[in-house]
Amino acid sequence: MASAFLIKGLGDRPKLKGTIRVAGAKNAALQAMAFSILFKDTLRLSNVPEIEDISRMTELLEALGLSVRRPRKDSWELNVSKKISAAMPEELTKKFRASVVLTGPLLSRFGRVSLPHPGGCLIGARPIDLFLEAYKKMGAKVTEKSGCYDIAAPKGLHGAEIFMRNQSVTGTQTVMMAAILAKGQTVIKNAAMEPEIPHLAAFLNKCGAKISGAGTPTITIKGGGLLSAKGRAYKTPPDRIETGSFLILGVLAAKDLTITNCQPKDLEVIVETLRLISSSKIITSKNTITVKNKNKAIINPLSIKTHEYPGFPTDLQAPMAVLLSQARGESLVFETIFEGRLGYAEELARMGAKITLWDSHRLMIFGPRTLSGKILTSPDIRAGLALVLAAVIAKGESVIHNAYYIDRGYEAIEKRFLSIGVPIKRIETAEEGS
Ligand code: EPU
Repeated sequence: MASAFLIKGLGDRPKLKGTIRVAGAKNAALQAMAFSILFKDTLRLSNVPEIEDISRMTELLEALGLSVRRPRKDSWELNVSKKISAAMPEELTKKFRASVVLTGPLLSRFGRVSLPHPGGCLIGARPIDLFLEAYKKMGAKVTEKSGCYDIAAPKGLHGAEIFMRNQSVTGTQTVMMAAILAKGQTVIKNAAMEPEIPHLAAFLNKCGAKISGAGTPTITIKGGGLLSAKGRAYKTPPDRIETGSFLILGVLAAKDLTITNCQPKDLEVIVETLRLISSSKIITSKNTITVKNKNKAIINPLSIKTHEYPGFPTDLQAPMAVLLSQARGESLVFETIFEGRLGYAEELARMGAKITLWDSHRLMIFGPRTLSGKILTSPDIRAGLALVLAAVIAKGESVIHNAYYIDRGYEAIEKRFLSIGVPIKRIETAEEGS
């Protein structure tokens, strides 16, 4: 059995009201689970979202031999109490991209790690060359056989200057973790600047790491010994992609919606863009965003181009395209980070959006078009949520298959959406959509 979401579209009238709470950031919590391997004592994590990718990561950590406890729904305790395996099991590693981040701490602590090419959403090639190049510079030997990598540094890693050819988020975080136990100083240049990176670095520094420059393009790490949490807990920051998606939903369909437990300062590009192109009233405070519409929002067309932080996030590109399907005129969406992230366009077109796919990176949308409910299939985590948004503003009923993808990134989305007035329910289906 698989699950799907059944959504009764609201049509044209903005109806959603109430408050919706943002969960902890998926990608920060996954990183924090990985850096538990750098600790000599128990690391506690709080505000961890209850999502499929976190379950996969805990399964993987347990399979490696870590002791994993969950004292509360949103908190975890992780401890490396015995020597753990450096061989990452194929089936679990291939289930999600974030598995690759374990290579940094495993290699630097135990001097060896082996893994198959990691899996993840089908949004592009997802290479790991930047990770491997960095490990080689830090003194590791990498061998590849039939799609499996063996990375060995029996005498430990040493510091190095690493220039990231692409500003890779997990690449930056993983090399940062590897450098914490390396001998000497590591400098990461052209580092990613996503807010989760300085957030993680600040916590690691409290526990004994020596990281400076996180949040800028140059990060310096002075290597040292194992970290110690001494009872401190890492509090996962709010998920900015979830926040942005709820804000887009608000512009499209809210009468009076407040998004709580969020950090609007990390989402300036979205808040400013939506203020510029929509008639919605968007009010921000330190930890909340309120969106108000008297009538259906007037949305002006816009060209967007995804960019590393603080630019327009690739993870919000699909929800934004749904919004632009309601704009008065022609918009262009240019996905610059991944080459397979427009897979939702066909589904949106079937719902009635006027979309022309130029190539695997660019599409043009001409709006506004009334969308109608359809049987849809979620292509990946973020595009899955975008289809939910499209179904909310459509006329008629939609079924979105592959709910698993949406569950990978969003905690109990149907409960939270139902509470603000989205007529949504989870249904069990015999098979996945086509
Ligand atoms: N890249 C390489 N070589 C590498 C690694 C990356 O060429 O070794 C390229 C990628 O192909 C891409 C660019 O570098 O063109 C940037 O990719 P990045 O490495 O930043 O992506 P990621 O770290 O694999 C994380 C998030 C993604 C998010 C991107 C971009 C996690 C687990 N994943 O991926 O989130 O889209 O950063 O912000 O943190 C999601 O949450 O649904 C998701 C896909």
